[in-house]
Amino acid sequence: MSGGSAMDVEFDDFAGWTAEAVERLGLDHAIPAGCRGSASPTALAWLAEACQLSSGTRLLDLGAGVGGPAAWARRRYGVRPVLVDPMPGACRAAGRLFGLSAILADGLALPLRSMCVDAAWSLGVLCTVDEKYELLRELHRLLIPGGPLGLLVLVAQTADPKPAPEGNSFPSQQELVAVLTNAQFSVVEQITAPEDVPSSWTERAGRVDQVIREAHGDDPRFQEAEEQNRRMRELFRTGQVSTQLIHARAW
Ligand SMILES: C[S@@+](CC[C@H](N)C(=O)[O-])C[C@H]1O[C@@H](n2cnc3c(N)ncnc32)[C@H](O)[C@@H]1O
Repeated sequence: MSGGSAMDVEFDDFAGWTAEAVERLGLDHAIPAGCRGSASPTALAWLAEACQLSSGTRLLDLGAGVGGPAAWARRRYGVRPVLVDPMPGACRAAGRLFGLSAILADGLALPLRSMCVDAAWSLGVLCTVDEKYELLRELHRLLIPGGPLGLLVLVAQTADPKPAPEGNSFPSQQELVAVLTNAQFSVVEQITAPEDVPSSWTERAGRVDQVIREAHGDDPRFQEAEEQNRRMRELFRTGQVSTQLIHARAW
């Protein structure tokens, strides 16, 4: 991971706060609140169809966070998810929210045998690590030959996006394609993530945010996460980054 404490707050402390808030509001809030990589049901559906997920597909979710996307894919497509995240709070929250057991590990050195999954996702992760090639090579090692990879990546549209949120390392489009090619993936298709999200989804995510704010708004860690979010919103507002969905295939 390329950042320090801001990332710990965002991916570790916030994970536990999210689980607490969902337990108060009801489990129907878990998936919308548990998709922390900017994924929406429309983005997830695009990735799931592109990767041809189906019942029984062994789907690796690398950098799974609190498990929202993996839980969504299990519910909608009947996949068998394998979650990995380096943050203990995120792994615990995946268990609390979805009953999913997550492997606590760094994506650069996965404690899993080669060719053990049929498909892989990594959503909102590649843009938080400096070692993009190494992460992609691990994904390649774990995938069966020709296996599909679904990525959600925040891609830089300008040379040096500012104000930079701590711990992010946005690739340019050229860098993204080059690193995928070097890691022996070919891009099958790429789209800008659809912006339409049903309000029933955003309202549930918003209610969870509100409960977290009420409980932890005075906490400096919450304020640090707020500042990260403010910078991220500014990058989107000014068009300096965009959310890309990529379907790639291992060769
Ligand atoms: C923006 S969150 C996305 C979480 C989840 N994929 C989602 O879409 O809700 C990025 C995730 O990447 C994880 N991450 C960061 N560095 C990683 C690494 N080296 N290996 C695996 N996961 C990593 C973080 O812990 C965090 O959970």
